[in-house]
Amino acid sequence: MLNSSIRKIGILTSGGDGPGMNAAIRSIVRSALFRGLQVAGIMRGYQGLIDGDVVDLNHRSVSNIINRGGTILKTARCEEFKTLEGQQKAVEVLKKYQIDALVVIGGDGSYRGAHELFERFGVPTIGLPGTIDNDIYGTDQTIGCQTAINTAIDSIDKIRDTAHSMERIFVVEVMGNRSGYIALQVAVAAGAEEVIVPEKNFDYETLYQNILEGNRKGKVSWIIIVSEGAAKATVVANQITEKTGLETRFVILGHVQRGGSPSGHDRILATRLGSSAVDLLLKGQYGKAVGEIRDELNIIDLKEAKKRPNSQIEEYCELLRKLR
Ligand code: ADP
Ligand code: F6P
Repeated sequence: MLNSSIRKIGILTSGGDGPGMNAAIRSIVRSALFRGLQVAGIMRGYQGLIDGDVVDLNHRSVSNIINRGGTILKTARCEEFKTLEGQQKAVEVLKKYQIDALVVIGGDGSYRGAHELFERFGVPTIGLPGTIDNDIYGTDQTIGCQTAINTAIDSIDKIRDTAHSMERIFVVEVMGNRSGYIALQVAVAAGAEEVIVPEKNFDYETLYQNILEGNRKGKVSWIIIVSEGAAKATVVANQITEKTGLETRFVILGHVQRGGSPSGHDRILATRLGSSAVDLLLKGQYGKAVGEIRDELNIIDLKEAKKRPNSQIEEYCELLRKLR
């Protein structure tokens, strides 16, 4: 073992769950045990940290979870933790359970919490990007986003069957919070005609004209992907019917996108990042977030991990326009 003051690592999952969080937990636990450390699991994110909801984790605690969606530690959102008083309570719990360092798996909000524990109280923290939204700077992909995209594609393939058979327009709403990443990926992979994302103004009048013109030429079914942060599928579908007179249905894919067995990519990403989090703590590198860029591990300061810019928007929208 390295010469480190860290004897026990705590792990928590926070914010929206995502497939692959369990693979990350398994990797952290087993990597830490391999290095001679103890591991504690904190239930329900920062809420469990404030409440002292702490369990010991051993090698067997993480058996048979690499393939399971969700998180065995459960997850939550916790307003109290955003306050100084909430954070002070959390620090007391860490002391009580002799937890020397904390790995937080979550999105950018969870990262902010980990950063505040480090900055304000000197708690050694590491963030791992766990969210389906893929909206965190410092990593090409977040743990869970690949699986969510695959799940959405699978559903849209099924919608395509009925859209084509009944000659209808479908508006499909996908998750992503304020990021259009899932929508763009899904639109290209599912062969959609149009995508509406929060990062780009959308010209609805042109859409109605394109639909009518296509209809005159015999194009009778459309699949339009809407990112939840841009518009509501119900509203878009109603507007299309009103402006074109064509039969339109909407589908909100919702939380199915958050569940299911993680893809191979998400398992590998989670496993690499989990092990790397333990390495960083033992090297005394605290207040960091680990991601993967072009297959290489990438380490940044937690405070840098603001929303990542979505650089593919123009290219992907142009692709859809050319191919529809
Ligand atoms: P995500 O981590 O997926 O972005 P949220 O933004 O809901 O999800 O954040 C998850 C939790 O992280 C919040 O419920 C809160 O407990 C904590 N958190 C978020 N923002 C902050 C902040 N500015 N300071 C401290 N904790 C925060
Ligand atoms: O951040 C993950 C996410 O699934 C977003 O895509 C979505 O906007 C949000 O969480 C939904 O949150 P909840 O499960 O609280 O409805």
